Amino acid sequence: MSLCHSKKFRLLLLAALVCAATARGLSHEEAQQLWGARTRAASAAAAARPLRYLTFKNFDANETLRSAAARAGIRVGAALAVAHLQNASDPLFSRTAAEEFNLAVAENECKYWSTEPTRDNFTTSNCSVVVDTMRAAGGAARLHNYAWAGANPGWLYPKPAYSNATLLGILQNHIARVGGAFAGQVVQTDVINEPFSNTAPPNPETHDLYLKPMPPWYPAIRDYIPLALEAARAADPTSLRYINDYGAEDLGVKSSLVYNFSRGLVAASPGLLQGIGLQMHVDVDAYPDPIEVAANMKRLGELGLKVSVTEMDVRCTPPCGADRLALQAKIYGDVVEACLNNSGVCEGVVTWGVTDAFSWLWDFENPHHEDMQPLLFDVRYGKKPAYYEVLAVLQMAAERRAAPQACRDRFLWPFSAASIWNSPIGAGATYLPAGIYSTELPTEIHNDQVRFQRAKPPA
Ligand code: G3I
Repeated sequence: MSLCHSKKFRLLLLAALVCAATARGLSHEEAQQLWGARTRAASAAAAARPLRYLTFKNFDANETLRSAAARAGIRVGAALAVAHLQNASDPLFSRTAAEEFNLAVAENECKYWSTEPTRDNFTTSNCSVVVDTMRAAGGAARLHNYAWAGANPGWLYPKPAYSNATLLGILQNHIARVGGAFAGQVVQTDVINEPFSNTAPPNPETHDLYLKPMPPWYPAIRDYIPLALEAARAADPTSLRYINDYGAEDLGVKSSLVYNFSRGLVAASPGLLQGIGLQMHVDVDAYPDPIEVAANMKRLGELGLKVSVTEMDVRCTPPCGADRLALQAKIYGDVVEACLNNSGVCEGVVTWGVTDAFSWLWDFENPHHEDMQPLLFDVRYGKKPAYYEVLAVLQMAAERRAAPQACRDRFLWPFSAASIWNSPIGAGATYLPAGIYSTELPTEIHNDQVRFQRAKPPA
C-alpha cells in the first residue's frame, strides 16, 4: 500500500488541517513570546522524534549531497575561501567541496575590497579561483556581492565624501567591470547585500520604510537598488539578480518589508529583480518556523521571484552534545525541506562554509573562541547528524519526485509527507501546531495571503 493511501497518513493530515483551521492572529508581543515557546516545543519534538535519516527506509548514507540534490531538483552549495581551497596540507577541504557540493560562493573574495582594492584597479583573480574551482568540478557559482555596507575599501569613504553623482558612477563602473569579468560564468549574483531595515517604522535617518542606511551607497544614491540591478543586467544578463538579507526567513516584520518592497519593484520594473536570498544564519536556541519559511518562499515565488537559502549555518553554543546536534540536524533538514516544497521557486541551499574548522562564528560574538559547530562537517570533516539529515531529506524528495503524479498531488501541500509521517502528533510541534501560532503578521504590513495559504486544503 502506498503512503498516500495509508490510514495513518490520512489521519495525521486531517489533524494538521484542523490545527491550521483553528488558527488565530497574534499581536507582535504575543508573537515574540511564542517564539520562545515554539523553540522549546520544537526541542521537545526533536528529542521525541527520530531523525529522518534514522527512519527513512531507502536512506543511502553513501550518496553525496550533490548527487541527491540533483535528483531532488535543487542545488546544494557552500561558501569557500581561497586560502582553504589552496591549502595543500589540508586536501580534504577542496575534495569535500568538490565532491559534496555543486554550487560555490566566495566567502570574501568577490566582495568590493577584494575586487577593487584601489579605485578603478580591479583584481578578480581570487574570486575567479572559487568560481573556476566549482565549475571545473561540474558545479555552478554565485557572485557575492556588489553593494553592501561591509567589506568596502577605505577609498570609498574620502573626506569630504564623493558627490552623489560620482558615487553612482563608481558603483556602476564596479558592477560593469566585475560583472563583465564573470559574465556567463555565474548563475546568481547578490547585487545588493543586507539593505533592509530590521524594524517596521520608517528609519529616521532615511525616512524610508524599507531600507536602512548603507554607507557609502544609501541614502546618498536614493535609487541605488534599481540602478545597481540595471547595471548588473547590463554587465551580465544571464546571472539571476538577487537581493540577499538576513533575519527575513520566516513571517515577521522584516520578511514583510522584503516582500512588500519586492512587490513594488516587480510591479515598477518587471524582470529587474529576480531573486531573494534568505541568509539563514540561525541558532539551535532560536530558529525560524519551517512552515513560515516555506510560506515566505511561496509568497515571494508568487511575485515571480526565485529564492535561495544563501548562507545557512546553525550555531550551537556549548555545551553542544548529542541532543543539541540532533536538533541542529532537524533545523537543517526542515529548511532544506521548505526549499524542496517550493519546487520551481527555491533554487537551493548554501551553507556558509564546509567544515566546523573554518567558520566566521569562531570570531563573531564568541569571546572565548569556542567551536559553535555550525556546519555539516565537523572539524575533522566527519559527517554530522545534520549532514545525514540533509541527505535524507534530499533523498526523500528525490523519491517523491520520481513517484507517480497522482500520489504526489495528494500529499505535498501544505505539509510534506515526510514531515508528517515522521512526526507523531504530540511530538511534531514544529510542524503541526505551528499553524496555530502566527497566521497574522504583527504590524500594519499584514499580508492576508499568508492566512489564505495556511488554511487552504489540499486538492
Ligand atoms: O584577510 C584579512 C587578513 O589579511 C587580515 O590580516 C585580517 C585582520 O583583520 O583580516 C582578514 O580579513 C578578514 C576576512 O573576513 C577574511 O578572514 C576580515 O577582517 C573580516 O572582517 C572578514 O569577515 C568576513 C565578513 O563577512 C566581512 O566581510 C567573514 O569572513 C565572512 O564570513 C562574512 O560573511 C558575511 C556575508 O558576506 C554577508 N552575510 C553575513 C556573513 C557573516 O558575517
